[in-house]
Amino acid sequence: MSKTPIRVAVTGAAGNIGYALLFRIASGEMLGKDQPVILQLLEIPVEGPQKALKGVAMELEDCAFPLLQDMVLTGDADVAFKDANWCLLVGSKPRGPGMERADLLKDNGKIFIGQGQAIDKVAADDARIAVVGNPCNTNVMIAAAQAKRLTADRFTAMVRLDENRGRAQLAKKAGVSINEVSDLFIYGNHSPTMFADFTHAKIGGKAAAEVIGDEAWLKNEYLPTVGKRGAAIIDARGQSSAASAANALIDHVRDLSTPGAIHSVAVKSEGRYGFNPDVWAGMPVKTTTAGSFEVIESYEMDDFAKSKIALTNYELVGERETIKDLL
Ligand code: NAD
Ligand code: LMR
Repeated sequence: MSKTPIRVAVTGAAGNIGYALLFRIASGEMLGKDQPVILQLLEIPVEGPQKALKGVAMELEDCAFPLLQDMVLTGDADVAFKDANWCLLVGSKPRGPGMERADLLKDNGKIFIGQGQAIDKVAADDARIAVVGNPCNTNVMIAAAQAKRLTADRFTAMVRLDENRGRAQLAKKAGVSINEVSDLFIYGNHSPTMFADFTHAKIGGKAAAEVIGDEAWLKNEYLPTVGKRGAAIIDARGQSSAASAANALIDHVRDLSTPGAIHSVAVKSEGRYGFNPDVWAGMPVKTTTAGSFEVIESYEMDDFAKSKIALTNYELVGERETIKDLL
């Protein structure tokens, strides 16, 4: 007997990330090859984006995905999030060349008030939310602040792209396959202040710092390369990452649905690792059951790591201060 379909709401569904994401969800890459899905797609309620959304839906139809049980296309958040089990909040402005993600705060932040309210009102009791729209750590805080029914642990933001970037850069430097790199977690903000914790990372089961054997490279080249990779992509492509962002979101949701998976997720810090308790910060998370996780709190940080965490925490607290009227 086939499984009950999972309802996946995706905002900004006609955008760049949406186009790289929806087909993979519908083909079963995110929730499993035997898991039917219903896509509930939200776009801004004006002609251009709604027409583009119809085009994307036509293409989804033309793929004849066996797992895609239904699609809802809408400009109304209450319809998009109705009974949704996963709410993927992608829709928002991307930054252009020369901007920092925090420059988007005032424009994008307010989107997450209405969407947070709609999710809390109409989404499924087991709803989980993953925020991608930038600056994602602070936007998720805005959405979660609207929730009276859903608890803060249901709200996550994506730092998985940073983890994937960090693993890829270590593998490249060491000249090994990506599968050799493990235990690399992202702490803090999805911004250049993030800390890609190479101090606990492993390559082929050995300490990455030992295998690389070049502390100056790790501190002065590796960290900025990972932290500023988004800007480097905008500079090269003329627009922000889309396929790799969609891929990271697939990883984020799949791993949060797979007991035993360990990866970086931005969650409400509750004071862990010295972060302000009220900010959403990247940290290592272990999925316990298909619907819940625990933060791994056992990593001991040295003075260097602590100073990096303090810096990214300072930025997150500053972002929170900037949008405090939206909370
Ligand atoms: P895009 O401009 O191509 O698409 C965004 C889509 O969202 C557009 O179709 C737009 O009409 C829609 N939209 C805007 N406001 C909306 C709203 N209120 N409700 C529903 N839809 C709305 O942008 P993109 O490249 O897909 O990027 C989307 C966001 O993701 C940006 O903020 C970008 O910075 C961010 N991003 C985050 C990460 C990450 O790692 N966290 C990675 C890449 C991109
Ligand atoms: C990224 O990291 O690629 C995205 O957050 C887009 C950006 O603005 O950098």
